[in-house]
Amino acid sequence: MDGCSNNPRADPNGPMFYNGIYHLFYQYNPFGAVWGNIVWGHSVSTDLINWKQLKPALTPSKPFDKYGCWSGSATILPGNKPIILYTGVVDESQRTEVQNYAIPANLSDPYLQDWIKPNDNPIIVADPGVNTTAFRDPTTAWMGRDGRWRTVIGSRRSHRGIAYLYKSKDFKKWVKAKHPLHSAPKTGNWECPDFFPVPVQGTNGLDVSLVEKSDVKCVLKVSLDTTRYDYYTIGKYYPKNDRYMPDSNFVDGMNGLRLDYGNFYASKTFFDQRKKRRILWGWTNESDTRMDDVEKGWAGIQSLPRKVWLDPSGKQLLQWPIEELETLRGHKVHLKSQKLKKGNLVEVKGITPAQADVEVVFSFPSLDKAEPFNPSWAKFDAQELCSRKGSTVEGGLGPFGILTLASKNLEEFTPVFFRIFKMKNNFKVLLCSDASRSSLKKELYKPSFAGFVDVDLSSKKLSLRSLIDHSVVESFGQGGKVCITSRVYPTLAVFNDAHLFAFNNGTEAISVETLDAWSMKQPLIY
Ligand code: FRU
Repeated sequence: MDGCSNNPRADPNGPMFYNGIYHLFYQYNPFGAVWGNIVWGHSVSTDLINWKQLKPALTPSKPFDKYGCWSGSATILPGNKPIILYTGVVDESQRTEVQNYAIPANLSDPYLQDWIKPNDNPIIVADPGVNTTAFRDPTTAWMGRDGRWRTVIGSRRSHRGIAYLYKSKDFKKWVKAKHPLHSAPKTGNWECPDFFPVPVQGTNGLDVSLVEKSDVKCVLKVSLDTTRYDYYTIGKYYPKNDRYMPDSNFVDGMNGLRLDYGNFYASKTFFDQRKKRRILWGWTNESDTRMDDVEKGWAGIQSLPRKVWLDPSGKQLLQWPIEELETLRGHKVHLKSQKLKKGNLVEVKGITPAQADVEVVFSFPSLDKAEPFNPSWAKFDAQELCSRKGSTVEGGLGPFGILTLASKNLEEFTPVFFRIFKMKNNFKVLLCSDASRSSLKKELYKPSFAGFVDVDLSSKKLSLRSLIDHSVVESFGQGGKVCITSRVYPTLAVFNDAHLFAFNNGTEAISVETLDAWSMKQPLIY
């Protein structure tokens, strides 16, 4: 079901919509399932669901990218001319990184299969004082009101993460701006920065050139290689001094908000002119062993494409699988007003649980029985809390949720569930996607991924959507406030032997107000 499965390794690169075709490039090793020999794989689609894989768009061949065509972005220049900015690695021993451009060889080829890397590359080399081995992943460029192009390049100085800003009049000669767009101490290298505007109201997306508008907020996302998660802040871009400042309630780095609390890295967005929305893709790596990857001959998938926009509170982004995914929905089952007392487990029958889309609304009569949050747990992050308070650990209000990819006798299952804690003056809502019991296989990485959901519980309802696809469970809590992607490798709960349940292990009875589940069809990947 996932957009691309045919051996793409990693980072989504240069996504764009051009002349009716969606293009997705990605970091790719054409010679094997492990990292190396990095080229830009290239796939195209008319609907973001069915994908045609083309030959690689960029492969190492010139002195300025001989050791790798690393991550980058696409920009559509005036006159409807796409251009790629990407990082080239120029020598093996020093691993010096430079920024290059590439243009389509033939604009009338609807698939833009051939790309030229002109000989006046590289167009950006690290200035003195810039770390040449941490100088990469240029963003989609935008033109400011002053007529200058801008692009952002990820870097670090010692432990300070830096988003350098480069400016150009002609897209060829680039000059480092006086200050970085943004930087933050103790965050390490900022890989794959992404910078884009979001309207203060509504769910539409905007072209990056609108970062200067007054009624927009800006988002800066960085991928931190120390934790391997994607963090973002929301703030304002000040064109006068060319700087971005996160709003005061956001923090940079590991304690900040994440786009996804699971296996999701090096993500990138683009503006889809066709539907006026901003779409996000992330790289969802394997959680099995290197040997497993070599054996199966591929590793790494792209997440489902997600629409992103600003939550009306302004406090976070919201994400939702693109509506086109609903075209893959097949047979549907529907449950209504199903009461779940402590220990109840209800099987959802009649669909294919190994490849399904599930939407549930849970409701509860009161918040009184929510378990008090022990102050000594304050030192735990959501993931640590989830690993201690798993789906089988009795609570007050919750744990309740669904068991995905479950074997008949529950030797294996991946629960996605809520647990509500009572704090002094409010409540804390935990959403977990817990892989710890997902497989009987031993050598796997089986984290208890989790995030806290910032939600007003006055309606006494919580909602969840999970897309299940054999080794992937991609979940969206409370309309996309917290997203968690898990990679799991069941041995028993496979194909027709996988089951789906709704469950409650809290002392307070809850209700499955509605549950809609669909079998999901296979897209065309060719
Ligand atoms: C992120 C990353 C990028 C780099 C690319 C190389 O996963 O390390 O910073 O450009 O992968 O494949």
